[in-house]
Amino acid sequence: MESGKKKQVVCVTGASGYVVSWIIKLLLARGYTVRATVRDTDDAEKTAHLRAMDGAEDRLHLLKADLLQEGCFDAAVHGCDCVFHTASPVLQNFTDPQAQLIDPAVKGTLNVLGSCSKAEAVKRRWYALSKTLAEEAAWKFSNDYGIEVITINPGWVIGPLLQHKLNIGAEAILKLINGAPTYPNLCNEWVNVKDVAMAHVLAYEVPSANGRYCLAERAVHHSELVRIINDMYPSILLPDRCADDKPFVPSFQVSMGKIRSLGMEQLIPLETSIKETIDSLKEKGFLSF
Ligand SMILES: NC(=O)c1ccc[n+]([C@@H]2O[C@H](COP(=O)([O-])OP(=O)(O)OC[C@H]3O[C@@H](n4cnc5c(N)ncnc54)[C@H](OP(=O)(O)O)[C@@H]3O)[C@@H](O)[C@H]2O)c1
Repeated sequence: MESGKKKQVVCVTGASGYVVSWIIKLLLARGYTVRATVRDTDDAEKTAHLRAMDGAEDRLHLLKADLLQEGCFDAAVHGCDCVFHTASPVLQNFTDPQAQLIDPAVKGTLNVLGSCSKAEAVKRRWYALSKTLAEEAAWKFSNDYGIEVITINPGWVIGPLLQHKLNIGAEAILKLINGAPTYPNLCNEWVNVKDVAMAHVLAYEVPSANGRYCLAERAVHHSELVRIINDMYPSILLPDRCADDKPFVPSFQVSMGKIRSLGMEQLIPLETSIKETIDSLKEKGFLSF
């Protein structure tokens, strides 16, 4: 890490989450001081793994903030050189999408940006990792208020878990190897959480970084995912048929062109990401073979 960045203070929102935990680990390792927001600073289950990270004792500060409370990110972003905004509900089961997903993503993004626009220092970069509406709102805010925005748009994120809660990508793998009778007729882009964290940090550190970055090592259909797992773990009973009898959703390619400009020549291969996910699921007690 270049010495010029060592003493910088950065803010990260949604600190207890899967992707964010890795971003914080990387930022601490690179010498940054990190202000990290969580909804409940006293919830040990969500914060213990953060407090235990190397460098956390001196350089990690946990602050309380909720996406839906206007102004509550003011203190966290004040004086920071950069804000990594990654807090957003990631839910599969919901009854009210507007209240549970869209409002926290869009209003929350605008709340964080509102706090950034009040804070003098936050002018260089601001990162959103959120859904389309939140991203659109962020770009509009960026144009209107002159705050520089960079977005990182990963595919399905898998790889080792630092936090104790299951995340959506690891859950997809867990379902496949935990007796699901079928695999979904879906083709997803897959990327390792460590690459996602690195892309965030490089998007801040590389002066020429700009715009949107799509991030996926490979797009594969779930049938192919099952084949890869079967090759690596022949003893695991895996689903052998698709959930529907329609033609398989076709695969596609995700360009590496732009992410290479950040200096990321190769992403971690899907096979490694799957293995790391399964090892982590075992270590965290979600699997017992
Ligand atoms: N995982 C993926 O495959 C994937 C793929 C593409 C994009 N993304 C994006 O990456 C980001 C992080 O995803 P993740 O997988 O790391 O999710 P995660 O583990 O569920 O973390 C989400 C974080 O958002 C916080 N959050 C949710 N609602 C909040 C609210 N109202 N106020 C404040 N914080 C709130 C949560 O905090 P609490 O602990 O307080 O609930 C949690 O720390 C999200 O923006 C997601 O859309 C993820």
